Amino acid sequence: MINPKDIQVSSVIKKLLTGITGLSLVMFLIAHLIGNLTLFAGPEVFNAYAQFLHHFMHGMFIRFAEVGLLGMFLLHIWSAVSVQMSKRRARPARYAVEADAGGASKKSFHSLNMLVSGGIILLFVLVHLNHFKYADHDATMRLSSGVEVNNVYQLVVGSFQANFGYVLFYMLAMGVLCSHLMHGIWSAFQSIGFTRPSTLPYLNLIGMAIAIAISVGFFLLPLLIFMMRGTFDPNLGPDAIRHAATHFLPHFPPHVAG
Ligand code: HEM
Repeated sequence: MINPKDIQVSSVIKKLLTGITGLSLVMFLIAHLIGNLTLFAGPEVFNAYAQFLHHFMHGMFIRFAEVGLLGMFLLHIWSAVSVQMSKRRARPARYAVEADAGGASKKSFHSLNMLVSGGIILLFVLVHLNHFKYADHDATMRLSSGVEVNNVYQLVVGSFQANFGYVLFYMLAMGVLCSHLMHGIWSAFQSIGFTRPSTLPYLNLIGMAIAIAISVGFFLLPLLIFMMRGTFDPNLGPDAIRHAATHFLPHFPPHVAG
């Protein structure tokens, strides 16, 4: 009979939990990146998108998503840290050489530093939320549909354009995110049961490709916004923007619940 208190069983359960929560967070990152790309369609589209998310299903969607996301983060950190702790308890003396072994072991710089990269990402997320989600920013904008919405576009674009240090902070953090995901996605595939030796090299490649696509996307976003100073005026009026946005989205403006 399976006993979850058995050290090996509990370690398998925790690895599975780390993998499932990690992959769910990767899904969030992909959705977040796609949503953030609407920044390039101008304030009307981005702010309408943010407003839509906040009002979808009478606000229930965002509430569920936020609680789910927080739960995923906490479970991911707890399970990952406790798997590492039990590994260290089982082998108190560290390897004489903690080096990149490569090959089938896939021991690498990325895998050896998962706790450090995870900790840096956690710090990044706290700074990020403090700045973009919980910022004291009450500027609003009237959409072409007449709805008055929070001008999150102005906050995001204004922040990246005003301070290259902030852009640099994002780019460095995305380097760390890339390192974390390079090992994390592949490892999660294995934890959820993809262990056939013939498929492992492909999974490793797929994991790396997803890691690079996500990090490069998030890396380029602040940099491009910074480089497009002048064309990307956070104070542009709705008329000019509506004109630019119709160019990108033929069925503009999107319907926004008031
Ligand atoms: C250039 C990159 C990014 C931009 C422009 C950006 C923008 C934003 C904005 C504007 C919000 C607030 C949305 C709202 O009004 O509720 C937000 C929320 C959030 N972001 Fe980002 N983000 C970026 C990268 C990231 C990365 C790399 C992560 C994670 C590693 C991340 C994690 C989050 C989380 C967890 C939330 C809170 C979601 C919620 O509770 O609704 N973001 N982001």
